[in-house]
Amino acid sequence: MSKQVILTGITTTGTPHLGNFAGAVGPAIAMSKEHDNCFFFLADYHALIKCQEPARIIQSRQEIAATWLALGLDTDKATFYRQSDIPEITQLMWLLTCVTAKGLMNRAHAYKAAVDDNTNNQEDPDKGITMGLFSYPVLMAADILMFNAHQVPVGRDQIQHVEMARDIAQRFNYLYGEHFVLPEAKIEKNVALLPGLDGRKMSKSYNNTIPLFLPEKQLRKSIMKIVTDSTEPGVPKDPDQSTLYEMYKAFATEAECAEIRKAYAEGIAWGEMKQVLFEKVNAILTEPREKYNELMANPEYVEGILLKGAERAREHTVPFIAQLQKAVGL
Ligand code: TRP
Repeated sequence: MSKQVILTGITTTGTPHLGNFAGAVGPAIAMSKEHDNCFFFLADYHALIKCQEPARIIQSRQEIAATWLALGLDTDKATFYRQSDIPEITQLMWLLTCVTAKGLMNRAHAYKAAVDDNTNNQEDPDKGITMGLFSYPVLMAADILMFNAHQVPVGRDQIQHVEMARDIAQRFNYLYGEHFVLPEAKIEKNVALLPGLDGRKMSKSYNNTIPLFLPEKQLRKSIMKIVTDSTEPGVPKDPDQSTLYEMYKAFATEAECAEIRKAYAEGIAWGEMKQVLFEKVNAILTEPREKYNELMANPEYVEGILLKGAERAREHTVPFIAQLQKAVGL
């Protein structure tokens, strides 16, 4: 067992989909079985940056919490909490804000993309951009540095943010002494980037997702809607150009994949392949789906787990923020 601290969070907007399972929650839970010091959290303060509908924040938070638990996260082993239950994180954010160069934040991809959009539309460059969006990487740095995480499993779009956390940590350490570990983004090479219904990356922003815990019938219907080309049954097909295969790969073993590649060479019909994919995904999700529905019907139970997680997290954050405040002269 390594002493490495592993930490990652999920922003609580939207409903968890197959892509979140294959790319983030699944691999994180697998990692928590091999490492002792895992911290997983619901980034609900981050959610406020993108979403100003309280009901949606609440719904999404419950769904995402239930998802981690339904997929088998052992909360006695990993520390599982809600960001907003740890006031020390936002306290730390201010300490970090005061050592973060504005120029560094100007270079953040998400902020730059928003400015570029405005400029292209001949609008004021700052139209619709809040300080929350601008400071997003500082909040994320506080999440990471608060627990002195060594490794931060994230998708490629988040690498820059982890690098910024590292820059900010370095600056703080230089000014006030060695308080922070310098974190690294951990990109799983064999973690699937799941395609969505239209073949592009499955993402809330493309509106092409398949929700993770759809009832069986709707899951089937959704999979049947995945776009394919018009190659006829009996004509050999290239698995490496196929959204269905790409999805299948994220759920199947190597042996099963080899089987299916043979079926592609033999010209399996798209309809048949969709059925195969549905059966595979459904078999994996049937049990967690039941658990998920139970948890969604039992919010007090989930709440209890989150509060216990926060209590455990705060055994570290309360003394650590005191140490940091002292270091800066408060
Ligand atoms: N920004 C991440 C995302 O949208 C979520 C997140 C917030 C996070 N804080 C974090 C991820 C800290 C890793 C570490 O995907």
